[in-house]
Amino acid sequence: MKKAITYFLLFTALSSFSTDSADKQLKQTVCNALPLISGWCSQEKALNFVDLVLEVKPQVCVDIGTFGGSSLFPVASTLKFLKQGFVIGIDPWDKTENLRNFDPVSDQINAIWWSTINFDSIYNSYNAMISNYGLTDYCITLKMTSEKAAAQIEHIDILYIDGGHSEAAFTTDVLLFLPKVRRGGYIWLNDTLWEQAQYAIELLLLQCEVIKLIDNGNCILFRKI
Ligand SMILES: C[S@@+](CC[C@H](N)C(=O)[O-])C[C@H]1O[C@@H](n2cnc3c(N)ncnc32)[C@H](O)[C@@H]1O
Repeated sequence: MKKAITYFLLFTALSSFSTDSADKQLKQTVCNALPLISGWCSQEKALNFVDLVLEVKPQVCVDIGTFGGSSLFPVASTLKFLKQGFVIGIDPWDKTENLRNFDPVSDQINAIWWSTINFDSIYNSYNAMISNYGLTDYCITLKMTSEKAAAQIEHIDILYIDGGHSEAAFTTDVLLFLPKVRRGGYIWLNDTLWEQAQYAIELLLLQCEVIKLIDNGNCILFRKI
């Protein structure tokens, strides 16, 4: 009996060691690739995304405002690691659509900066990234606004909101997508230090608890109660 217990403890220790080292390898691969992908995903955010997907083992993740896919990449890579689920990337990849989010007078700096972006080239780099890293089976791309995409999505385990940055866009994304997140599901809201995100935060707080702040408070993780 003593021998059996010893073998059991040894087996448990060895298998948790190999899981830990596989997780470490995944994180290293994600962090190495991240600087090569267009976008604004910090290493801290990428590691938090990996950890949450490992913990939740979601079937459906949604990434609003995909751009070059830098924030979608850690999620898709972890789903591939787990061999389950998929992430839906939503973005119109369209200059005119994006410029609707910025007032040309009060938000002139953003309007000018975004007008220089070549969205066709960003969309091509996103597709190349999905294919180069073997993530095709774990990603669904909806090349359209989040308002249009909402009708095609029913159930969400983990949602990331980083699309239009006007107050109306942040608010619309919360109003349209929060009802689709299951109870106990998670919502990351990005750019939470922006004034335009404040009403969206208030709406989220009516139905969610705050789990953590990352990126110096500029990205908040909520859990739907
Ligand atoms: C700040 S970027 C997102 C960055 C990206 N999530 C990352 O982590 O690198 C905002 C993106 O939102 C997209 N966007 C603008 N309006 C949108 C809308 N109505 N629905 C979905 N995406 C939108 C823009 O095209 C742009 O690619």
